[in-house]
Amino acid sequence: MKNNVLIVGASGGIATALIEQYCLNDAHVIAVSRAPASELTHHENVTYHQIAQQDDEHIGAFVKQLREQDIVLTTVVITTGFLHNEDTGVHPEKRLEDINEQALTAYFSTNSITPALWLKHLVNIVSKEGSTLVCLSARVGSISDNGLGGWYGYRASKAALNMFVKTASVEYKRRVKDVMLVCYHPGTVDTGLSKPFQKNVAAKKLFTPEFTAKQLIAHISKLDREQTCHFIDWNGEVVTW
Ligand SMILES: NC(=O)c1ccc[n+]([C@@H]2O[C@H](COP(=O)([O-])OP(=O)(O)OC[C@H]3O[C@@H](n4cnc5c(N)ncnc54)[C@H](OP(=O)(O)O)[C@@H]3O)[C@@H](O)[C@H]2O)c1
Repeated sequence: MKNNVLIVGASGGIATALIEQYCLNDAHVIAVSRAPASELTHHENVTYHQIAQQDDEHIGAFVKQLREQDIVLTTVVITTGFLHNEDTGVHPEKRLEDINEQALTAYFSTNSITPALWLKHLVNIVSKEGSTLVCLSARVGSISDNGLGGWYGYRASKAALNMFVKTASVEYKRRVKDVMLVCYHPGTVDTGLSKPFQKNVAAKKLFTPEFTAKQLIAHISKLDREQTCHFIDWNGEVVTW
């Protein structure tokens, strides 16, 4: 079976490295981004789709189009997420007084709702003979592993993402059978998302996107597929929910 890999959020730092790695592995990559195509996405292995607005209607229409082309996905990586946005002035909260309705709405919309809509539609086009769906989550979305506090919106929206993935895994198992869903913490990766927060990160703990992509691809291939849903980190270690 052809290895069809869907990467959502294709212009991002980690997504770009994933596209490169999957191309090197000779997969057919379907890249989806809000942004126009880049040099990388002109690669012969990449089919590129710009979806400027990733709402229920547009995601649904795109997946329907893939289905009509008889495309069956073996791997999906949803990288969509944000931590800060300089245009809208959203930054992670340091204290309760920083909590803001508009910022919370933005966090949940991008980090939880958009991936949930992808999960809703993709159930119809993932391979029944061994498919894997990965959502880029974050350790700070673990409820049990939260000793530091702060970052209310980002933490809560990633925890909500984890719950969407875990809940969807029950239904995917019933409908798709040989399927595995993964919430993945990539570590701190040198991308635009982490830029303002890198100064306290030891150099050896600031990963390149290339390292991150290789780790993700290696770890998901080693997971126990009898377990439908996993929450793991860049080192393949279990993260507690
Ligand atoms: N970098 C880190 O240290 C780190 C740590 C833990 C978790 N993560 C997670 O890893 C994922 C990828 O992060 P990254 O480091 O590669 O960051 P990035 O370079 O900023 O990429 C994130 C991508 O998410 C998509 N996105 C952002 N806002 C969106 C919106 N409002 N609607 C739809 N899509 C939106 C964009 O894709 P398009 O513009 O192409 O659509 C963007 O390129 C994120 O989910 C992040 O939370 C990263």
